Amino acid sequence: MQLLKMVENFDLKEKGWQTTQTVHLMAEAERRVYADRATHLGDPDYYKVPVKDLLNEQYLSQRTTSINPDRATPSQEIKAGTFAYQESNETTHFSIVDRFGNAVAITTTLNGGYGSNTIVKEAGFLLNNEMDDFSIKPGTPNMYGLVGGKANAIAPGKRMLSSMTPTIIEKKGKLYMVVGTPGGSTIITSVFQTILNVIEHGMTMQEAVNAKRFHHQWLPDQITTEKDGFDPATKSALAAKGHQIIEISAIGRVDAILIKGKRKMEGGADPRGDDTAIGY
Ligand code: DON
Repeated sequence: MQLLKMVENFDLKEKGWQTTQTVHLMAEAERRVYADRATHLGDPDYYKVPVKDLLNEQYLSQRTTSINPDRATPSQEIKAGTFAYQESNETTHFSIVDRFGNAVAITTTLNGGYGSNTIVKEAGFLLNNEMDDFSIKPGTPNMYGLVGGKANAIAPGKRMLSSMTPTIIEKKGKLYMVVGTPGGSTIITSVFQTILNVIEHGMTMQEAVNAKRFHHQWLPDQITTEKDGFDPATKSALAAKGHQIIEISAIGRVDAILIKGKRKMEGGADPRGDDTAIGY
């Protein structure tokens, strides 16, 4: 399939059967595909063959760009393709309420993808890279763009600042909402917006979680919003006020529970992830 897809980029019919050009192109495609075969193919019961990546059209057309129509590429210069996998940052939140009204909001983090890339031997867990949440020097941003100074400088025994915001809200002394999210520096503002969506804007828990989010963290001086987070009129009115607006694909993954009275709860599970709300 790789071969067929690769030669789609060339008009072999026009070049003719067994002509120099056709043989050259086919051999060059074959050279590249067999380099992939040598690295990426094996019994899929034993080895995770990256079939999707290998057949990705962009990947295959990028593979053909190194074909020189005039010269054979020496095989030593051709290596198997590599695929950039995106490992997400590693924070998780869950919200729980039991039938007695006991509530748990837990946000737990490794910080970056794979934390510090160090596994505790025989225990099977990764060590975090939470040191990134300290400010290493005034004005130097951490991986979430947060800056800080002396107050959050590294010192023995000191805890780094965290944005994690596992939240339990009571109304008149009674449990009202349990809420939290991953998302680095955007955690605080995601929780803030979710609460306001319910309290100020009358949304259900699920609507409040689904609603588009935005975020400002002082520096960089911009409002980050989700794609189509603002309608065009709001976007230009905000820009006219001097806001710089940057769109990204998603902010946060909020999971929350709203208490609707005796024995009635509403769950909000974020559709941005594979989250679910379950009642037993
Ligand atoms: O504690 C903090 O603020 C960060 N370590 C949280 C990182 C995080 O949420 C990454 N995941 N999305």
